[in-house]
Amino acid sequence: MEWGMANRMHRMFQPVSGNSVMVAVDHGYFMGPTRRLENARATIAPLLPYADALGVTRGILRHAVDPAATTPILLRVSGAVTVLKEDLSDEEVVTSMEDALRLNVSAVALSVFVGAPHEHESLLHLSQLVDAGEECGMPVMSITAVGKELEKRDARYLALACRVSAELGARMVKTYYCENFEKVIEGCPVPIVCAGGPKLDTEKAAFELAYGAIQAGAHGLDMGRNIWQSDHPVAMLKALRFIVHEKATVKEALNVLEEEKKAPPVAAKRAASA
Ligand code: 5RP
Repeated sequence: MEWGMANRMHRMFQPVSGNSVMVAVDHGYFMGPTRRLENARATIAPLLPYADALGVTRGILRHAVDPAATTPILLRVSGAVTVLKEDLSDEEVVTSMEDALRLNVSAVALSVFVGAPHEHESLLHLSQLVDAGEECGMPVMSITAVGKELEKRDARYLALACRVSAELGARMVKTYYCENFEKVIEGCPVPIVCAGGPKLDTEKAAFELAYGAIQAGAHGLDMGRNIWQSDHPVAMLKALRFIVHEKATVKEALNVLEEEKKAPPVAAKRAASA
């Protein structure tokens, strides 16, 4: 691996655990002002010091992230479809590699829609993005999107989508957690990080997802709503870090969460920094 590519990959994953807790705040690119991400700057600021990387579009990066921040940036570069359309799979690459370099990001991310009407185009976009990324040392993350069909999240489907992504040259893959997740990991030669999906009913359920993913061999999380739609986003993030980097159990993470909840409420901190 070229030095630049290797250096960017090392920025994304922590040296001791080899894992990463990436915080995803890119939902607005197709969902608009998602609940509790309406004011992106206010949501992002308290989380930034505890995120191993921040998943974001260039618009939110420019408007809501302090350029003095040292958190590695995972730049979403696919889009141009919104939730108002039935078929979400018709995405294009909407941000150039030149802009990704200008923004000094550590990796770029694009969704692939395996089995969807625009499967072929999305896989071609991945291959072309990998070509451009390899040219300049920029790792590409493939996101195995499921569109509105959340029931697609089974091991057989996700293993196929992750493997195809790796075969086309993605340096890392983001996918969804599912039963028999080890089958998804087994078939994919590049690091997999797990998304959280829509907010789960309890914090415990989010910890179980994270714990199951790490036990199965995932290299961490790229999680959004289960962190920042929580009433205690920083506490959630710290507890998830404990699972991902220290292999803590769900019970241990719940203890961390309860301890962290005693810290001053995030709402007060947000008001103080606004
Ligand atoms: C949106 C995304 C999100 O970044 C990904 O789904 C992670 O966020 P969440 O944990 O909220 O699902 O790719 O398309």
